[in-house]
Amino acid sequence: MLITGSFISMKYLTLNNVKVPALGLGTYRSTGPRSADVIRMAIEEYGYRHIDTAQFYENEREVGEGIRRSGVPREDIFLVTKVWPSNHARDRFLPSVESSLRKLGADYVDLLLIHWPNADLPLKTYLTELEKARSLGMTRLVGVSNFNIAQLQETLDLGVPIVTNQVEFHPLIDQEKLRQFMRSNGISLTAYSPLAQGLIPGNQLLQEIGVKYGKSASQVALRWMIQLDEVMTIPKTGNPARLEENMDIFDFELSETDMAQINALRQQNNRLVKDFHGAEWDS
Ligand SMILES: NC(=O)c1ccc[n+]([C@@H]2O[C@H](COP(=O)([O-])OP(=O)(O)OC[C@H]3O[C@@H](n4cnc5c(N)ncnc54)[C@H](OP(=O)(O)O)[C@@H]3O)[C@@H](O)[C@H]2O)c1
Repeated sequence: MLITGSFISMKYLTLNNVKVPALGLGTYRSTGPRSADVIRMAIEEYGYRHIDTAQFYENEREVGEGIRRSGVPREDIFLVTKVWPSNHARDRFLPSVESSLRKLGADYVDLLLIHWPNADLPLKTYLTELEKARSLGMTRLVGVSNFNIAQLQETLDLGVPIVTNQVEFHPLIDQEKLRQFMRSNGISLTAYSPLAQGLIPGNQLLQEIGVKYGKSASQVALRWMIQLDEVMTIPKTGNPARLEENMDIFDFELSETDMAQINALRQQNNRLVKDFHGAEWDS
């Protein structure tokens, strides 16, 4: 579904009855005095309504401040944070979420994720805490990140209603097996490092395709993701021109031939984010 707002268009996914903008802003390494203003600018000037942070990024305070400074009502923003493995134990999980909410200056987040699977604890321990956070109203939705197929299956078997698995996803990585498993189980994919941490802008094929549409290689890659079913994407930038560029992908549509050519790039299988611990990549 494409919806045109006053100055931007956006595709939305509906996850457990919650409408979620398919393109959001990543904030890893967005720290320091400018970061709150980057968030404000992204929201106020470029129409971003989906912001991805994490306990690990140590910028929840700045993200919250940027949202408030934007003047856009909190309920119009889809706010995501993630619980780091050192906070997965039963006695640390909920206090860590309370601390995140305090830093964000928010009563709730829209989506709370397990940042990485934990090699030292049974999945059930922290998934139970994730569910508690949801039933206590600390988050509207729950999800996971960096989970492989076996870990997703275990999560489903436990009956935890996860709406997404946030994983590395861009045209240069092969995540097909994982993506198909997620699609057949109704789990959306949130693409992290969608610009392959800077490799995408220089990719020759994406540049060539972009010329036909008057778009950059980055815009082609982001548009490719948006055209795939049940994929959301969260490129990070601290640069105003790129905030605008990355959002400007809703006025063109890649042809089937171009989509197929981009799909074929995954044969390179260039995985940038290595296993943290516990996840055995199997796709
Ligand atoms: N769940 C996880 O474990 C996990 C892991 C990694 C990332 N993430 C999330 O995903 C987000 C995005 O991933 P990422 O930060 O790793 O990498 P990314 O979004 O693929 O790439 C970010 C890099 O690309 C540059 N860039 C952005 N837009 C550009 C454009 N239009 N043209 C050229 N360069 C551009 C940025 O530089 P400038 O800032 O200078 O523009 C930055 O150096 C993170 O910020 C984080 O929120 C999650």
